[in-house]
Amino acid sequence: MLDRYNRNINYLRVSVTDRCNLRCTYCMPESGIRLLAHEDILNFDEILDVVRVAVAMGVNKVRITGGEPLVRKGITDLVRMIAGVEGITDLGMTTNGIMLPKFAGELKKAGLHRVNISLDSMDPEKYKAITRIGSLQDALKGIDAAIEAGLTPVKINCVVDKNVLSVDTLSPHSSAGKVKAFADSKGLQIRFIPQMDLHKGTFGEVIGGSGGHCASCNRLRLTPDGMIKPCLFSDLEYSVRELGTKQALLMAVENKPSRGSSSQKSDFYNIGG
Ligand code: 5AD
Ligand code: SF4
Repeated sequence: MLDRYNRNINYLRVSVTDRCNLRCTYCMPESGIRLLAHEDILNFDEILDVVRVAVAMGVNKVRITGGEPLVRKGITDLVRMIAGVEGITDLGMTTNGIMLPKFAGELKKAGLHRVNISLDSMDPEKYKAITRIGSLQDALKGIDAAIEAGLTPVKINCVVDKNVLSVDTLSPHSSAGKVKAFADSKGLQIRFIPQMDLHKGTFGEVIGGSGGHCASCNRLRLTPDGMIKPCLFSDLEYSVRELGTKQALLMAVENKPSRGSSSQKSDFYNIGG
């Protein structure tokens, strides 16, 4: 499905929860967040309906995000439901990896193709400081579990300061350089994501992956409470419950801005980057 700027919208990111088992400093305020009420969160049938209609309209790439998607109860069942939609050629999940030792095998069986795992530092103290409560050891165990389960290619997401400009200028002694060395040692792809501020409108292109490039942006997002968002850096959103799934998707495509500016309403923990 083409938008007004001739971009082929074929990618849907589905945020299944606003909850997370970590509290990354760049993602959540320390005070915690105001969580969505249970009745505002789409149930599995509603999420499946959005995926089905989007696929019928031309989406073939789906990514499950959060918050942390693995804290959503029954996530494996939801993955199985989505994997059963004919026409999806790429089904991925973005996770912090902490719960993958428990879930990797069953997710693979349910039909998930691959995972992107967040890893910002190889230093246990620094990892703890960034995530406020996470253990580096646990994240590394999650990465191994994903590889073992065959959720491949496993990709590493590493959030970096926005002035890191390219992989080549990365010092091997820098924090990001060490994550790169780890990824290389495991044969994993790595993408550096410049730290963004949705409210201030600071965003940058993902180094080594897609994202942050407005002219070729092919994505729509579904929030846990059923809003279709055409752009991360815009407050435009269309409710599937109020408008109906098809109309909400159509309006999001029709009104997708040529480029992002800033968003007051959204935060990373409810749109999953
Ligand atoms: N800037 C850039 N990326 C972010 N993410 C979360 N918060 C931010 C932010 N402020 C992304 C990271 C992380 C994923 C879960 O969400 O890529 O790995
Ligand atoms: Fe959780 Fe990911 Fe946000 Fe960290 S960045 S708090 S892991 S949702």
